[in-house]
Amino acid sequence: MAGSELAGEIAPRDSRIPEEAAQAGRCGPFGVYVHVPFCRVRCGYCDFTTYAPGDLTGYGDDLAAYPSLAAAELDLAVGVLQGSLRPADTVFFGGGTPTLLPSAQLRGLLEGIRERFGLVEGAEITVEANPDTVTGELADQLAEAGVTRVSLGVQSVVPTVLSVLERTHDPAQVPATVQAVRSAGLEVSVDLIYGTPGESHQDWAATLDAALALEPDHVSAYALVIEEGTSMARRVRRGELPGTDEDTQARRYEMADEALAAAGYAWYELSNWARPTARASLATCRHNLGYWGGGQWWGVGPGAHSHVGGLRWWNVRHPRAYAERLRAGESPAQARERLTPEQQYDEWVLLGIRLADGLPLAGVHEAGLAAVPSLCADGLVQRVGDPDRVILTRQGRLLADLVTRRLLGW
Ligand SMILES: C[S@@+](CC[C@H](N)C(=O)[O-])C[C@H]1O[C@@H](n2cnc3c(N)ncnc32)[C@H](O)[C@@H]1O
Ligand code: SF4
Repeated sequence: MAGSELAGEIAPRDSRIPEEAAQAGRCGPFGVYVHVPFCRVRCGYCDFTTYAPGDLTGYGDDLAAYPSLAAAELDLAVGVLQGSLRPADTVFFGGGTPTLLPSAQLRGLLEGIRERFGLVEGAEITVEANPDTVTGELADQLAEAGVTRVSLGVQSVVPTVLSVLERTHDPAQVPATVQAVRSAGLEVSVDLIYGTPGESHQDWAATLDAALALEPDHVSAYALVIEEGTSMARRVRRGELPGTDEDTQARRYEMADEALAAAGYAWYELSNWARPTARASLATCRHNLGYWGGGQWWGVGPGAHSHVGGLRWWNVRHPRAYAERLRAGESPAQARERLTPEQQYDEWVLLGIRLADGLPLAGVHEAGLAAVPSLCADGLVQRVGDPDRVILTRQGRLLADLVTRRLLGW
């Protein structure tokens, strides 16, 4: 996970964590996230921690320097976790564009994780990729290295929409890319975006049809967010592009859910759908389920976030600052926060209600329980038994923020 700037207390340079967090960090699934913060070009809508060649200084902060720095952070993680060190259930190479790294280096990092932490039997290993960075050869090399799934940023199949998003791949090449990944024996996930300025109803329908024709194991469909500070936000402000609108986004979500459900995909989180495979009753992303279900994870790389036993920290964002810290033998963590019980509860409600498994009412506070009858009467949640819990209806999924606020008694 790698996101935006947050406030928090200064993280200690030796990166030690309190003993109670290390102890609590032994529970639940454990994931390792490796953030590769480089892209060939930055898409105008993206505010993730990522840098294109022109953003870098050339002082050891580029792609070539990255693997040894990431390995140094892995060493640091081993020292910090010590007694609570355990094999990883999942590893996720995210970005940025991890497939800009030569496959031998991705393999080396995965080996480094295996040697230092161990991997559980059947561990899920995901690599995110832009379609124009994946060849059949690379897919085979990833499979040989132990990768189990590839998440492809397809976004849209309509050239004008891709051009507004400033994506670089040719949509006509995507079926061959998916075929190459599948032939290598890897699971395929595709990321889609809806609500891009200028995207029509037909554009989105065509994207859904084409995505389903790829027969992926997993689909993530995200509403485009026009993030402050991005070049797309500036273009919208100048009137060069229309903004997004909530009603259109809601209609696009309904279209996606209808098309995916009809094709045999089940939603398991608000923006994520999966189908049954030979491996699992649903090919969910177990790594992301760890984030949403209170798991523990160590995030390696510039801007990466970590969570161990209720302690959260995040690394400095610029690759140069990251490199300087590690070369000085210091932690790259910029700041951290210890979640209060109230914050932990709010997060449990916020993330749990977005899951198709729903929110177990046994853990819900009085204000939330009091809201349940009216949420049911409004058709926003459904109450089901054993364990007694509430699950969002489709209407509720469209209004998930409102449902969350009512469950929190806000
Ligand atoms: C940060 S990217 C990393 C993977 C890869 N570089 C790619 O673009 O597919 C992961 C996903 O986040 C999505 N994303 C980034 N910025 C977004 C935004 N403002 N609104 C919605 N989705 C966004 C991307 O489109 C992509 O599917
Ligand atoms: S390729 Fe992915 S990570 Fe890179 S700028 Fe585009 S959306 Fe962001």
